[in-house]
Amino acid sequence: MNEQEIATLRKLMEYEASRTEPPRGFPALPDIPGGRYTDPRFFELEKEHIWRRSWLLAGHTDEVPEAGCFRLWERAGQPVVIVRAESGDVNAFYNTCSHRGAPVVTDESGKRPRLTCQYHGWSYSHDGELVAIRDPEDYRGMDYSCRGLRSIRCERFGNLIFVNFDDKAPTLLEWLGPVADEWQEFQFDKCRLAARHIFDLNCNWKIAMEANTEVYHVKSIHAKTVSPMLDDRRNVNTFYANGHGRMIAPARKGKAALRAARMAEYPEIETVGEIGRTCTQSYGIFPNWVSPLSHRTIPPLIFWPNGINKCRLETFTFAPDWGDNPAPDGWTQNNGEMLSPVLLEDTEFGEWIQKSVESYGFKGVPLSYQEARIYHWNQSADRMIGIDNIPAELRVGQVMGDEWIYPNDPRVALMEEELAKSA
Ligand code: FES
Ligand SMILES: [Fe+2]
Repeated sequence: MNEQEIATLRKLMEYEASRTEPPRGFPALPDIPGGRYTDPRFFELEKEHIWRRSWLLAGHTDEVPEAGCFRLWERAGQPVVIVRAESGDVNAFYNTCSHRGAPVVTDESGKRPRLTCQYHGWSYSHDGELVAIRDPEDYRGMDYSCRGLRSIRCERFGNLIFVNFDDKAPTLLEWLGPVADEWQEFQFDKCRLAARHIFDLNCNWKIAMEANTEVYHVKSIHAKTVSPMLDDRRNVNTFYANGHGRMIAPARKGKAALRAARMAEYPEIETVGEIGRTCTQSYGIFPNWVSPLSHRTIPPLIFWPNGINKCRLETFTFAPDWGDNPAPDGWTQNNGEMLSPVLLEDTEFGEWIQKSVESYGFKGVPLSYQEARIYHWNQSADRMIGIDNIPAELRVGQVMGDEWIYPNDPRVALMEEELAKSA
């Protein structure tokens, strides 16, 4: 982030703290229909149009360090094997033998010279080509070249591995847009995988994710943990194309040094600038990534549906090489035994809210300006699904126009206007 951007952000923080109503021109947000958390039709639409067509975090290159190393990955409900090839590339394939669909790997992870199906012994290279079959004389005209493993789009951002089931999807970099540039300072290509855990939650995946997509809850849920440190009234939300969002909230007065001292025994990502060091800078990457990046760690929380009323929260910590220290883990206690106190707070009401949204009494969710990143996510989801594909009672209104999408930001002009008035 350059000096000019930092200066504008700092001013925007003051603007946010001083305003007495939502910024001029910011729309009243229509209620989010409750059925989006409970209706099987919406669940199916998400499956078909969101999970099938978005870039999804699948792992880290440390998990497939050498040629032949593989990892089974089924978080998105599809059978996938991720494998490191001799070229150094990381490939993803359906874990589905081209003969009769048996898996080519059944272990969670491992290393194999070939991916060999255990059913009848067909074997594949790490690039997915079919290299040998048993008793080839019993096939007439077998064309090996069209019987390889079905590949899945697989791209890396630094050391992070993303997959996308849609052959026509934009590239990962196009998908991330300006976020990819903003992330350069975090050196994703230097971070190692420090921790990865999974937790089952009893609520729709969006309910869990939304608890991490606004600061409106901080004063109540995190009264003793986050709130004393984070100045929620100075939070600045930014909305990007494709449904991504960012929040930047400074530390409370006098608490910046305390915040910066956290994990002081661990190496820093030296290129991280002032904002990443002194503020909570958190990104929501559509559809299921929330991560407060800092100069110490890159710790995405990833939310996966597990049926309509259950989800899985996957917690990652990526960090620069920690040497002889224990690997940092920003999110759990006792190496994944339980969630950290802050995440326990964030997940506390998920099951209760699920009961509410399933009740006769629940109609919809009125979101405030502070919660607008959730609204932006929902608007973007509908566009991705195709608005006409969604039953009318489950749609959200497209009320936040492009004037709110980065690099547009009407607040900058409003703020200048306010400043000019008070000068
Ligand atoms: S199903 Fe794989 S070899 Fe037959
Ligand atoms: Fe929270």
